[in-house]
Amino acid sequence: MKSQTWGKRHWMRVLGPMIVLSGILVGCGSDTGGSAQQEGQALQGPAGQGDQLEVVEGQANDSIMAMRSENSLQATIQEQDGRSIVTNPEAVTVIVNKQRSLPDGYEPKDLVEPNVKFSFDGANEKRFMRKEAAEALEKLFARAESENIELRAVSGYRSYARQKVIFANNVRTKGEKEAARVSSVPGNSEHQTGLSIDVSSPSVDNTLEQSFGETTEGKWLAEHAPEYGFVIRYPEGAEDKTGYIYEPWHIRYVGTDVAPDLAKSELTVEEYFDNAFIKL
Ligand code: DAL
Ligand code: ZN
Repeated sequence: MKSQTWGKRHWMRVLGPMIVLSGILVGCGSDTGGSAQQEGQALQGPAGQGDQLEVVEGQANDSIMAMRSENSLQATIQEQDGRSIVTNPEAVTVIVNKQRSLPDGYEPKDLVEPNVKFSFDGANEKRFMRKEAAEALEKLFARAESENIELRAVSGYRSYARQKVIFANNVRTKGEKEAARVSSVPGNSEHQTGLSIDVSSPSVDNTLEQSFGETTEGKWLAEHAPEYGFVIRYPEGAEDKTGYIYEPWHIRYVGTDVAPDLAKSELTVEEYFDNAFIKL
């Protein structure tokens, strides 16, 4: 991983060319625009330890439920000037969506460039992610490579300014209603948190298309991303819950405790962190 962080100086240097470039890039809100297992194992063994296992699993469940509750939609929002602003923008469990905005001017402080293969050359803010997510991405990509799965990183961090250009471009080419199904208004994109990245594969020319979900690589990603702390943020058939169409390419880092549990639950991020779904 390159230790260089993405300071203001760097993105001012590339913002100009990027704004021009973004005008060319269309679609999908993105850049290519295409269409207590451990405890459990330790306790497996002689008869009589089953009860102990249940206790340990119960404790793990309690702690994850408490974490869900502390980070719930209801516990992490405040109203400001008629807008709903998240109170935990730096948490790996932050939830931004159409109803939940990042604070004005929010920029992550620990953006770094993961050492993975990208779909493009050259300096660009979209190479960056927050450090914890970048480290997890490196591990995910290394595992993929070891299994002969070819992944490419397409678009990670996006500043407010860049998301503004992308959204405006989508409105111009698709109209407001369709644009809103595939891309966020600035200030409400997960990409601005530095915790999300769009991933594709040479098998689909590194495009961000729903067909990626049907490829060997797309299926591998959906299966293994949770082991490294990522989930498919906008699952198929969940537009009414997430606000966005199915994006098999968009993975979101939520941490290695949450991601496997969230994936197993088959809930959306919104549901998983909604008090209505959290049984304490
Ligand atoms: N495509 C996702 C929803 C974004 O624009 O953040
Ligand atoms: Zn995305």
